[in-house]
Amino acid sequence: MRTHLGRVFFFTGDPAEAGAEALCFYERGALVVDGEGRVAAAGPADALSGMIGATEVTDHGDAYICPGFVDCHIHFPQAVSAASFGGKLLDWLSRHIYRNEEAFADRAFAQSQAEGLFSAMLASGTTSAALYGSVHEAAVDELFSVALSRNQRVCAGKMLMDRNLPEGVTRDTPESATAATERLIGRWHGKGRLCYAVSPRFAVAASDKLLQACGEILARHPNVLCQTHVSENPDEAALVARLFPGSGSYLSVYQSFELLGPRTVLGHAIHFTEEDFALAAQTGAVLVSCPDANFLLGSGVFDWAAARKAGVRLGLGSDVGAGSSLCMLAIAREALKASMMGKGGLDVLSAWYLITLGNARALGWGERIGSFAPSREADFVVLSPEKPPLLPLRMAQALSVPERLAALLLLGNEATVHKTFILGRQVQGPA
Ligand code: GUN
Ligand code: ZN
Repeated sequence: MRTHLGRVFFFTGDPAEAGAEALCFYERGALVVDGEGRVAAAGPADALSGMIGATEVTDHGDAYICPGFVDCHIHFPQAVSAASFGGKLLDWLSRHIYRNEEAFADRAFAQSQAEGLFSAMLASGTTSAALYGSVHEAAVDELFSVALSRNQRVCAGKMLMDRNLPEGVTRDTPESATAATERLIGRWHGKGRLCYAVSPRFAVAASDKLLQACGEILARHPNVLCQTHVSENPDEAALVARLFPGSGSYLSVYQSFELLGPRTVLGHAIHFTEEDFALAAQTGAVLVSCPDANFLLGSGVFDWAAARKAGVRLGLGSDVGAGSSLCMLAIAREALKASMMGKGGLDVLSAWYLITLGNARALGWGERIGSFAPSREADFVVLSPEKPPLLPLRMAQALSVPERLAALLLLGNEATVHKTFILGRQVQGPA
């Protein structure tokens, strides 16, 4: 057993719903991790002194210790295109993305990108994520293989697409998509801490038959997730309306192929009506906002207030490579800006909740990661109040706990992430 001392904090629920008591904060706190890498206890160091006495102790001083960040939306083959600037969604995909993703036909390149991406995620404080693979089955094998070797809780899937793609871009048929997805589920789903997500790219690039095939795969595998994009950009939404005449809204296209439910994780959801939010809430689907990407692609501003009002399940994603940062502190900051640009709906403590327990719950892992409740898997980060340079200046006043957490989130970045731990083992940062 090992004890980590510092300013320990985590959430037991969303403060927007459960109130301020949902934040557990211990100024001189202890996180006790057992030999299997699970949380044995978390609380005030004084109160746990009996237990701590029997453990090895690491004192992180005035650093903050919280659950590792969870990212609900990353594109594995787009780290190589991160924040390619210029053009709105459909143009951007054609100019920067489809062809760069073709490089993942080379298995060795995919392997080195997977190693690099997971290292970058850990350096940014992200211990778990949902990722889109490329269309290439072997590249997805490499992605899962690297996640498994690092023992990280990861959800991912092969990108599925079969139409409306530039010449020369690899595509599936509904049959090849089903066969490859079934093989990958067989090889990886449930292995170690891995989970599979059926991943049709978006309705623009998926025929009726492909979406139907995705629904059938989900029906055969009750614990597999589904991830896709919805209503990110007005031109995209108009194209979907032309491609699926009579289907109602973009969101209801997915419903008509039985793709909407509590296992469905939908990126963006910007151009939503009240009815769309109601349908998402009613089906239990998760809406993952990706604000950094939305601003860089000029896609629009997610309506946090409407989503809250409808009672939809919510998550946050970096959406690298449309996004420019893997650090969920930066993504939460962009989400707060989006809320301010609209009618509110997100505050700082809820943003902290979202990048930890909220995103874990969005991916079905709320009983496993995202908090320091006993027996949770001990994935956590140690955050330094000394970096970046503005942070200690901001912290120099006597601030309340919520003020300090606001400063940490709004001024923090990758430099703030001092150390990262997976199942109690340090995997990043100084020894
Ligand atoms: N919609 C379909 N594919 C993509 C993608 O790769 N990135 C983003 N941001 N939106 C998409
Ligand atoms: Zn995306």
